[in-house]
Amino acid sequence: MTAASPNTPVDVADLLAFYASAGVDEALEDAPVNRFAEPAPKAAPRAAAVAAPPVESAPPPRSTQAPRLDASALPDAPAARAPTSTVPDEAQAALARQMASAASTLDELRQQMASFEGCNLKATAKNLVFADGNPQASVMLVGEAPGRDEDIEGLPFVGRSGRLLDRMLAAIGLDRTSVYIANVIPWRPPGNRTPTPHETEICRPFIERQIELVNPKVLVNLGGPSAKTLLNTSEGILRLRGNWRVHTTGSGIAIPAMPTLHPAYLLRTPAHKKLAWRDFLEVKAKLKAVT
Ligand code: URA
Repeated sequence: MTAASPNTPVDVADLLAFYASAGVDEALEDAPVNRFAEPAPKAAPRAAAVAAPPVESAPPPRSTQAPRLDASALPDAPAARAPTSTVPDEAQAALARQMASAASTLDELRQQMASFEGCNLKATAKNLVFADGNPQASVMLVGEAPGRDEDIEGLPFVGRSGRLLDRMLAAIGLDRTSVYIANVIPWRPPGNRTPTPHETEICRPFIERQIELVNPKVLVNLGGPSAKTLLNTSEGILRLRGNWRVHTTGSGIAIPAMPTLHPAYLLRTPAHKKLAWRDFLEVKAKLKAVT
């Protein structure tokens, strides 16, 4: 069966309604882009490269491609060598690790993340969503990735699920002045799609460093992706939730972590709010014990 192309205003309206109900809310490009394609080999005019004065040029387009050596610029390089295989995401994850560990304060980390071009999600996001709340807080909550409202405001959990999170926090006597909130992924995935494992691996060093710099007494993982990424487990959130785990920072500090249900899940499955309530009571008790 072939898809008929819409050609009347009614067809177009139907198609747009279908896209909206499917969660499509970003217009990207007309034609698909293969971001893993090898770039065409470049000729390297070596003498000119040495002699030419620096020229102001537009920044290179963001891409998931690894920065790589231009083989043709190396001495005796065969002019048209077959492309070598690369693992672009690993190169970007390595760069992210390097940039994250170079940050010795949260401000520096924010700057490093703002200048990082290795995650394709940045290309479609409006803003870096770094954090909200109090960096001196005893409790840090980590969600998955910003949604539309967070992308617009540049702050985590400000939409519907954020409002529920605020109510959950208030129920145990906390608010945004007494917690610190961030996400595993700091850029909104287009259309709120699930971040890919590669995107998560590329962003992981930043959130790990953020936790290390905040050094909270208690970590709360909001939802499965946060729990899986930061607690190194493949278990599902319904099994994980409610049980204390440990997040170990890069410098070896063990932080008690409570995996719980994501507020967006609770909005869809209100019957499970009582489970999250139990988890938050655990957090309250732990905070009382450790602070
Ligand atoms: N969901 C998340 O995981 N993070 C946000 O910031 C908002 C919604």
